[in-house]
Amino acid sequence: MTTTAMKQRSLLGLKDLDAAEIESILDRAAYWEQQAVKLNPVLQGKFVANMFFENSTRTRFSFEMAQKRLGAEVMNFAAAASSVEKGESIYDTVKTLESMGIDAGVIRLKPIGMLAEIAENVKVPLINAGDGNNEHPTQALLDLYTMRKQFGSLKGLNVSIIGDIQHSRVARSNLWALRKFGANVNFCAPDSMRASDLDASYISMDEAIRADVVMMLRVQLERHAGSVMNSAEAYREGYGLTIERAKQLASHAIIMHPAPVNRDVEIDSELVEHPQSRIFPQMSNGVPIRMAVMERALS
Ligand code: CP
Repeated sequence: MTTTAMKQRSLLGLKDLDAAEIESILDRAAYWEQQAVKLNPVLQGKFVANMFFENSTRTRFSFEMAQKRLGAEVMNFAAAASSVEKGESIYDTVKTLESMGIDAGVIRLKPIGMLAEIAENVKVPLINAGDGNNEHPTQALLDLYTMRKQFGSLKGLNVSIIGDIQHSRVARSNLWALRKFGANVNFCAPDSMRASDLDASYISMDEAIRADVVMMLRVQLERHAGSVMNSAEAYREGYGLTIERAKQLASHAIIMHPAPVNRDVEIDSELVEHPQSRIFPQMSNGVPIRMAVMERALS
């Protein structure tokens, strides 16, 4: 396979992926979700390295589940137990695994822009498992998949994304992908959490909770520099999906959240498993989506 063909199998973000390509991933995920047999070894003999330079539960384990269900050989790289601790760079780490013969790499890292630079210099497909506040393409794919399953189509869907937009790669990937399908995306956030780099409308919390999809975001305390949030109580009061606010949801509306959830901050604990919540189904949908993404990268 040529280097260009290899690179086309990478998934660095959704901003530059066209709607047809996204739709084919969603369709293939639907195929994988329908399979009654858990193990379909179409990637037998392929070696995949999961390289997480930032913590993860959902993304890491659902990639591993997807890879194992497709029969790939999986190597999990833990930064804390690696030579990164001795000062080795992320770039040298990826080049090291490439030189040992991996067929694809899944990477999560903090620095923005580094992934594109690494992808330019390696020959195997790379999949972005979240880079800083830039993109989280497989999260947005599973979000679109969840919405499409619920509503049949994304066209004309009103989606409110509420919370810490500034620090959210999920908000960015969702905004860019949903617009390609004709969905109306609005943000709702306090001034300190708005993203000046994104061209999107901000609406009030009263308006935001009337959407078809109410997507709450985690307040990303670990990314905050200075006083982005005064107190959890004040945030909940102003921008949390409280039990009181949830009474205003349309009966057909769904609640989403990429998780992990700060219970009783951005969403009241009782609403996480509310009948209208799709938070745990989102996690289930992450497996067939990542099966489709791994298959696209490797088969
Ligand atoms: N939603 C998400 O990316 O979760 P993790 O950080 O646990 O992977």
